[in-house]
Amino acid sequence: MIVLKLGGSLITDKSKDFFPRKDVIKRLAREIKEAIKESGEKVIIVHGGGSFGHVVAKKYGIKEGIKSHDAEYKAEGIAKTRIAMHVLNEIVTDALIGAGINAVSVQTSCLAMCMNDEIYVFNSEFIRKFLEIGLIPVLYGDVVLDMKKGVTILSGDDIACYLARIFKAKRIVFAIDKDGVFESMENKRLVEVITKENFEKIEFKDSEHDVTGSLKAKIEKLLKLAEDGYESIIVNGLVEGRVKKAVLGEKVTGTLIKVP
Ligand code: IPE
Repeated sequence: MIVLKLGGSLITDKSKDFFPRKDVIKRLAREIKEAIKESGEKVIIVHGGGSFGHVVAKKYGIKEGIKSHDAEYKAEGIAKTRIAMHVLNEIVTDALIGAGINAVSVQTSCLAMCMNDEIYVFNSEFIRKFLEIGLIPVLYGDVVLDMKKGVTILSGDDIACYLARIFKAKRIVFAIDKDGVFESMENKRLVEVITKENFEKIEFKDSEHDVTGSLKAKIEKLLKLAEDGYESIIVNGLVEGRVKKAVLGEKVTGTLIKVP
């Protein structure tokens, strides 16, 4: 079992609202198809929001939850964030099917609920069953109900980490638009391996931030995942072949997150 997260910054152009990188998505779909064929592994795909979900979620303050005075405004935001993610998911799923993958779109907001931003309910049985009958589930970061806040955003990263644990993933691949994590944004030197030991030395920038959190918070989550026995790798999906290699578990340029 392999969990693959396609970052929103990779599959969309974050500098332009609602702008999918269709050529990139198409090529990634081909790479994923080849990797599935060569490895014979089952794969769960999760994608992010990029210039679709994040833009709307930010505008309406979805992550802040529903307050008594803004329920109507939030309801409008929830509806619009949902449809934005649905549209992006259709583009991704369509490309995967076009590449010959039996992909099935799974609406996260109908499977999951949070409690103060943490996953509280997640009906992973749907995923298990789809996999069992030979389908490749395609989930995505989404607006979901929250038992305390009314609503929140559940990120694709959190979904990927959750499912990796549930399905005891053999590999977890995060494809983004950069080679991996850099020592600092100034020197752009790639950190090939991150463990608890060198993590504090990395200079994360505050600007690397969107509605679902910073790059630093993402790495912290991946370090926890590593402690639970699940190594993950961050690779540049804009460079042809890297996602395929990472899914196949071959040596590839990227940042590996593991225990020391
Ligand atoms: C965000 O998902 C989904 C919404 C904003 C609705 P992610 O947090 O996984 O998205 P990216 O990968 O950072 O764009």
